[in-house]
Amino acid sequence: MKLTKNFFFATVIVSLIMTACNNSSEEKKDTPVTETTSKTGITRSDFGNVDNKPVYLYTLTNAKGDQVKITNYGGIVTSWVSPDKKGNRTSIVLGFDSLRNYLAGHPYFGALVGRYGNRIAKGKFKIGDNTYTLATNNGANHLHGGIKGFDKQVWDATVANDAVPELSLSYTSKDMEEGYPGNLKVNVTYTLTDDDGLQIEYNAETDKPTVLNLTNHSYFNLTGDPSNSILDHEMMINANYYTPVDTGLITTGELKAVKGTPFDFNTPEKIGSRIAQVGGNPGGYDHNFVLNRTDSSLQLAVTVTDSVSGRKLQVFTTQPGVQFYTGNFLDGSIKGSDGKPFNKNCAFCLETQHFPDSPNQPKFPTTLLKPGEKYHSVTMYKLSVE
Ligand code: BGC
Repeated sequence: MKLTKNFFFATVIVSLIMTACNNSSEEKKDTPVTETTSKTGITRSDFGNVDNKPVYLYTLTNAKGDQVKITNYGGIVTSWVSPDKKGNRTSIVLGFDSLRNYLAGHPYFGALVGRYGNRIAKGKFKIGDNTYTLATNNGANHLHGGIKGFDKQVWDATVANDAVPELSLSYTSKDMEEGYPGNLKVNVTYTLTDDDGLQIEYNAETDKPTVLNLTNHSYFNLTGDPSNSILDHEMMINANYYTPVDTGLITTGELKAVKGTPFDFNTPEKIGSRIAQVGGNPGGYDHNFVLNRTDSSLQLAVTVTDSVSGRKLQVFTTQPGVQFYTGNFLDGSIKGSDGKPFNKNCAFCLETQHFPDSPNQPKFPTTLLKPGEKYHSVTMYKLSVE
């Protein structure tokens, strides 16, 4: 099964290229967020303290007044405020306005995920003759980097205010952290463009062969109100294949054609129109789609629209896959800062990535990173109103 053979090359050329888990950590204080002005640029306010390191909340504001807030705890995007078609400004991502809520435990809301996005079966993989055993935190499997993944680390931050606001986050993951080999230096840069694009650029280097699959785990609700479900949003995914999973949500190794299945989003479909046919427990989309591409340039992967708010989200990426997750495990037990529960299907995730469990699936594109190689990927979430 060749990845390139049957693929329909994406016709859309991106014109805007390229431009409580194990927290030994304790929140020392819960500083209220200082109100920022709507001036273009980037401001910083205290957000608390984790692992005896200061945690900040950065507010990126573009020329249109769109504001994205990001903390250096887990590189989490806590809010993205943008106008709907009537000019009402609300956040289109799930998040909290206090660090305490993040430390209480949450399903990766807005977080940077690493070293490995999604699952590695039984937490084991081999590089050459060496078998590595990872922390298991999802039944018998390893999920999203393990017990204390990148989403729970305090990153070093530097800011740039030149043309557009830019927040650069760095983290060094030590050899054998969560079981992964190699000292890994990671840098992730968030840029908010004036045309409402949130670009995320990932770079990394290792000193020993390792595996790596970085992503961002933002949960979107384009209505700007998570008490609405996202099942009426319309979605297009530029993918002719997806990677089926077993009952433990581990990829089987097969690439299955989406044609004639509820996974075919090549023409826009409501997220909810066929979701009942997807099956699984608790049921819903939680699958990696194999993006149609012949090279690794930044290309359109997904478009989502909400006719009520008029908001449109386009996702461009250099990655081979995207995990489409419809918030199936949200059950209302976690509440937003306004006290409203986050219910099942109140948000969707589009985690651009390599395929889950690639280290154990020789037919999937490789996630091996060797010393001397540079890991690089770019994803752009682009908002507009129609
Ligand atoms: C996974 C889901 C998981 C969710 C939150 C998604 O990427 O595919 O199975 O429940 O993240 O951890």
